[in-house]
Formats: sequence, C-alpha cells, structure tokens
Amino acid sequence: MSKKICLTGIKATGMPHLGNYIGAIKPAIDMANTGEFNSYYFIADYHSLIGVHDPKLMRTYIHEVAAAWLAMGLDPNKVTLYKQSDIPEILELHWMISCFTIKGLMNRSHAYKASVQANIESERDEDHGINMGLFTYPILMAADIMILNADVVPVGADQLQHIEIARDIATTFNNTYGNNLKLPKAIVAQDNKLLAGLDGRKMSKSYNNHIPLFSTEKELKKLINRITTDSSDPSSPKNPDESLIFDYYSQFATNEQVASLRAWYLRGIGWGEAKMELLVTLNKTLEGPRELYNELMANPKKIDLILQEGAAKVRPQAQELVSKLKHTIGVS
Ligand code: TRP
Repeated sequence: MSKKICLTGIKATGMPHLGNYIGAIKPAIDMANTGEFNSYYFIADYHSLIGVHDPKLMRTYIHEVAAAWLAMGLDPNKVTLYKQSDIPEILELHWMISCFTIKGLMNRSHAYKASVQANIESERDEDHGINMGLFTYPILMAADIMILNADVVPVGADQLQHIEIARDIATTFNNTYGNNLKLPKAIVAQDNKLLAGLDGRKMSKSYNNHIPLFSTEKELKKLINRITTDSSDPSSPKNPDESLIFDYYSQFATNEQVASLRAWYLRGIGWGEAKMELLVTLNKTLEGPRELYNELMANPKKIDLILQEGAAKVRPQAQELVSKLKHTIGVS
C-alpha cells in the first residue's frame, strides 16, 4: 500500500520564534521523521503577498523561513520542500475551484471576519485595507492541498476552519464532476501547546514578547531576563506549574532535567538560578541549529537549490492533476 500524503504550508513571515517552533515546526518535523508519510512542505509565498508588498523583504522572509526549517532538522531527502509560487498549476486549480466556492463561505472565514471586525472597532469602512487575496485566502489554501491529493494536513488549531472549507469546496466540485478531488483531513498535534510570550500573553511578533529562534546567547540572556518574577525569597519553595521559566524549560529539557528542576522549585530556587538553568538548556539546544541557520542565510543559493529541487519533484504531479481536470471540466 502506498504511503499517505502529508502536506503543509508555511507562511513566509521571517525568522520564526520559539512559539512557532514548539507549536508548528517541531510537530511537523517529528511527523515527517516517522517515515509513515510521503511528506510535502511548502513555503506559502503567494499567501504572504497578501500583506508583504516589499520585494526585498519577501525574498528575505522566504529564505529565513526555509533556513529555519532546515536548521531545525527538516531533511529535504525525507520531505519535499518547495515554494508555492514555483507551482503555477496551483493557481489554475485555484480558479477552477473558485467557481465552486460559495461567496458566503468566504464571508464566514475567521481571518477575513477578524479584519472586518477590527475595522468596525476602529470606526473605519469595514472593507478598509482588505484585498481579495485575504478574502479568498481559504481557496488558495484549498488548492495548495488538493493539487497533490493530500490525505493529511498537520496544522495548528487555528487552521481547522480552513481545512473544513477545503473539504466543502472539494465536495461541491465532486458533486458536479465525480470524485476528482480528495477530501483532506486536518491533524492537530496532540500536545499542541501554545507557548506564552515573555509577558504571559500569546507569543507573537506583533506583541514584541517573543524569543526569536536563532537569537545569540547574549540576546537569549537579555530576553529571559525580561520575564517578570515576584520578589519572593530565593530560598522559598515555588510552584513550577505557574512559572513561565519552568514552562519554557520543559519544552527543551529532557524528562530527567525537568523532574530535577521541578524538585528544585519545590525545595526553593532563586529566580536568577531558574533563569540561568533555562538559558543554559535553551542555548545548548539551539546553538547547533543557530550555526546552521547562519550558514544557510549566508548562502541563500543553497536554499534556492533545495527549493528548486523540491519544485521539480512536485510539478509533474501538479501538471498531471490539472491536465486531468481540464479534461473533466471540458476546456480540453
Ligand atoms: N494558512 C496556513 C497558516 O497560516 C499556511 C498555509 C497555506 C497552509 N497553505 C496551506 C497550511 C496549505 C496547510 C496547507 O499557517
């Protein structure tokens, strides 16, 4: 039996942070490394075009995101890594399925609705700053998925609605033409943890409470020092389950290390000591990948080559589907 097809898209938004790593990058790499799937991961650069209108920044973002995945262990021999814009057939499929997407379905899309809501709250016209790319975002995403007949799509919980929309669109299309498009299934990593930011809110670049994945040791130290702690006595017992420092530590340390830091908390640990433990562990995990990342960023041609090789593998499959569909709908 052939392996199931696993596919996911990664928006080009620049250097990821620890939250992106724990919530998306790590589970997707772990999944690919099980060897159970034919895995296809791509940089959704046309999705980024919705908001990134500076060509230099776009190129940098693409490289930063690809380099981050490679540096954190994505093996291009196990995962076909490519760029959405290198597969123009996605856009042909996008149009075909657009004609089977009910406009009301897009009106209900969370991302679009959130932008409308933000406009209403700031007393602007409700369509202010909203382009058609944002409005039809879920259709492009559906085309990304269906172009390779993906079975499973590892995503964060925030993307579940998009996968439901993709299934809706495929169903409508299939109702007219028979079973041509596969209905994808979302997979949300079980322990999909939301890593809090340095101030305790959701970790996000826009809150500036994030830890960039490839910060230098010095930067890591500064960032960790920003975590607010109380003024309790250094020798007093502390609750590890209410500590951001402990939470971060648990994501990167081994089980034994976590158990021993837990015991130290309960015995009484100084916040300075806890922060130092976190810094050492975090830096140890990230120093190798950081070096690799910097090496790749100094050699973007290497990254481009990997992406081109990926596209060359994917494109014939995309062409095959589109030419089949062109016949199905009657344009050829
Ligand atoms: N919308 C996804 C995100 O913001 C990125 C994405 C684009 C994607 N196309 C996709 C994810 C196809 C899975 C499958 O994270």
